[in-house]
This record gives sequence, C-alpha cells and structure tokens, in this order.
Amino acid sequence: MKTIGIITPGGDAPGMNAAIRAVVRIAHSRNCKILGFEKGWYGLLTESKKHLTPRAVGGIVQSGGTMLHTLRCLPFKTKEGIEKAANTLKSNNIEALIVIGGDGSFRGATELGTKSGIQMIGIPATIDNDVFGTDETIGFDTAANTAIGAIDKIRDTAISHERIFVVEVMGRKRGFLALHVGIGVGAEVILIPEQGYDIKKIVQVLNTNSKKGKQTAIIVAAEGVGDTGELAKEIAKHTGSEVRLSILGYAQRGGSPSGRSRLLASLFAEKAVDLMCNAQGNYIVGLTNGKIASIPMNQSIGAQKSIDPNMIQLAKQLSI
Ligand code: F6P
Repeated sequence: MKTIGIITPGGDAPGMNAAIRAVVRIAHSRNCKILGFEKGWYGLLTESKKHLTPRAVGGIVQSGGTMLHTLRCLPFKTKEGIEKAANTLKSNNIEALIVIGGDGSFRGATELGTKSGIQMIGIPATIDNDVFGTDETIGFDTAANTAIGAIDKIRDTAISHERIFVVEVMGRKRGFLALHVGIGVGAEVILIPEQGYDIKKIVQVLNTNSKKGKQTAIIVAAEGVGDTGELAKEIAKHTGSEVRLSILGYAQRGGSPSGRSRLLASLFAEKAVDLMCNAQGNYIVGLTNGKIASIPMNQSIGAQKSIDPNMIQLAKQLSI
C-alpha cells in the first residue's frame, strides 16, 4: 500500500474540495492510504494531519474553500522549515505529495521535493488562472461567474443613476479574470496589468459614448492595474460624470463551485493520481487545447503564461 499526502497551501479557490474528494476516492481505489495535511505548509511543520477515507470526503463536492484549510506560512520558507516539512513527509512514509494550488504553492512544492526527494504532483487551483501549463485553473470559472453576476447587478444601478462604475476584480498581478469577466459583462472598458492604461484614452471612450447618448459605463479593472480609487476620481474629474468604485474582493474566492470547476477538479485529480501511480517525477496537471495533460513542475514555475491576444482584440471589438 502506498501512502500519499495531499495539501492546499495557498489561497483557496472554489473546486478545491472537489479535487480533494476525487484524489482521495481515486487513490483509495488504487490501494493508497491518503493523509491530508491541514493549514497548508504549517500542517507539515506541526504534523497536523488526518487520514482521508472515501467517506471522509463525502458531501464536499459542492462546497467552496478547502476542507484542509490553508495558512500563509513564512516559517516554511526558511531552511529549517523545509527540513522539518521534509522530515514530516518521511516520518509518515509519504511517497508522493499532491499539492493543490497556484504558482506559489508549486514553488514551495519544488523546494520541498528537492529537499526530500519525494515526488510532487501539482493540481492547478486558483481564481487567477495564471499558472503556466494549463489553459484553465480550478476555481477560475466559478470566480468569473461570481464577478459577472455581481456586475450585472451593478449595471442596473449604473443605468438608473446614469453613473460610471469602476469595478475592481481580483487576479493578483494578472488580467485573466478581468478580461474574461469584462467580455462577459459587456464592459465599456477593460483594464489589465499587462497593458496598463492611459487615462486620456479612457476619458475619450467615455466622452464619445456620452455624445452617442450612452451616459453609463462599466469599467472592469484588474486589481493589478493599481489604485482604482484614484482612477475613479480621475475619471470623474475629466468627464464631469458621477463615478463610483465597487471592489468585488473576496466574494470572488468563495461560493459553491460551478459544474465546470467541479469537472475540471475531478479530471485533474484523476490525472494526478495516474502520474503518481506511475512515479512519473514532479509534474503539474493541466488542460491544454481541451485535453488533460501534464508538464514538468519546474517548467511551469519558471514561465509566465501569456494573455491571448485574440481575447484582447475581441474585447476591443465588442466595446464599440
Ligand atoms: O491568488 C488568489 C487571490 O485571490 C488573488 O486574486 C488576490 O490578489 C490574493 O489571492 C489575495 O491574497 P490573500 O488571500 O492572502 O489576501
């Protein structure tokens, strides 16, 4: 019997529980014992663990968050921390660790794998969708739907008051969520960190729309573009319109995962267990051109995923 570990060390994302559930049930069917380490890397430093049986993961597929909890854990980033974590894996006879998270989680996993010599398998789960090696991450679809639903509501009051709204969405330093959401809500302007912005151009779009009788606008801004409060003030100053800022914040991180997020979680889990059973080194699983695939973990953490220029072009065409 193989003993494997599972951990969710970074920011949570809707669908993580579906991934945990699928890993446990599929690995169990392959005669594995599964230990879940709690509170992220902290759980490896304190041996906070629980034996995960198929029954232990019942009734969670529809729940947001992570049943294992997570913590930002600075001590793990020290030499002693990595050593302690490696020793915990060894003392629990862990032959492989399945790490569910984003880029930061895989960086930690790579260090831990090097130190311990234990196989690391990554399952990409973050609302930011910024992991190189997969077209989509678990939780992205759910977060996008959450933001789209919220902005559709904001548009009602924007129209009623003939106001301009700057709506800040998450995405850390990248614009994947903002671009996807902006297209989904028919935003008049979409701002992403990869392109920055020119206040004069934004004002020109808004003033042109105003001359066409369009007195309201939704500006979807990725949090990575900078101070959206200042941006809202600048727009008000240059247009004379009433401008409001709405920061969607952590609502985008929670909620029941969408069907797509649950399916992606289950497919990624199956691939991760396959890789683990074949002891195929340190990989992350992913979705590439509609197919479930995998790439070496060190290739993923060493590269930056690019934004699809066709999506940017589409957004420009739609916001005329
Ligand atoms: O990485 C997911 C994410 O929600 C980002 O979009 C956001 O910038 C960040 O986490 C917030 O981190 P924390 O939960 O530590 O405040």
